[in-house]
Amino acid sequence: MKITDRLQSDHMSLFSVLEDLREWSGKTDRPEQSWKAACLVDLLRGQLAVHSWFEDAIFFPAILEGLMKAGPQGCPPRAIELLKEDHRQIEVRLRRLEEAVRAGSDGTAWLPALEDCRKVMLAHIQKEEGELFPLSEKVLGEAALESLSQQMMSADMKRVKVPDRLSALRSEDGQT
Ligand SMILES: [Fe+2]
Ligand SMILES: [Fe+2]
Repeated sequence: MKITDRLQSDHMSLFSVLEDLREWSGKTDRPEQSWKAACLVDLLRGQLAVHSWFEDAIFFPAILEGLMKAGPQGCPPRAIELLKEDHRQIEVRLRRLEEAVRAGSDGTAWLPALEDCRKVMLAHIQKEEGELFPLSEKVLGEAALESLSQQMMSADMKRVKVPDRLSALRSEDGQT
C-alpha cells in the first residue's frame, strides 16, 4: 500500500468519527450522550496524533527533499508550511471541541465547535488529497511511497484502530 492510500484511508476514518459525533449531537435524550461524545473525541485525537505527526515529521520532509532533487513542480515549500499551520489550527479546534464536550453540555451546545473543526479539517484534507498527494506520487516514486507507508504502519501499531473502536461504540448503541 502506498503512503498516499494509507493517509487517505485515515482521512476517511477521521470523517467517520466526525459523522458519528454529529449524529450523537442530536441525541439529547440519551443520558450517555456526553460519555459517548467524549469517547469519540478521544478517538479523533488518537487518530490525528499519529496522522499529523507522521505528515509533519516524515511525509512532508520527504516531499520537500524529493522536490529539491526534482526541481520546481508547482508546490513550493510555502504550501507545505501552510499545511503544517493547518495542523496547528485543527489542534486548536479539536481542543475547543474537547472542552465543549467535557463541559458536559448537550450536543446542541457543542455542535458549533464540531462544525468548526469539521470545516477546517475538510479544507485541509481537500488540499492534501487534491494537490499534495498527486505531487508526492510524482516526486517520490512507487518504492518510496511504499516504504513511507511501512514506516507509518510501524508508528501506528500500538494505537487502537478507529474502525475497531467505532464499531465497538456503535454496537454498544445497537447500531451495526
Ligand atoms: Fe492528512
Ligand atoms: Fe494533514
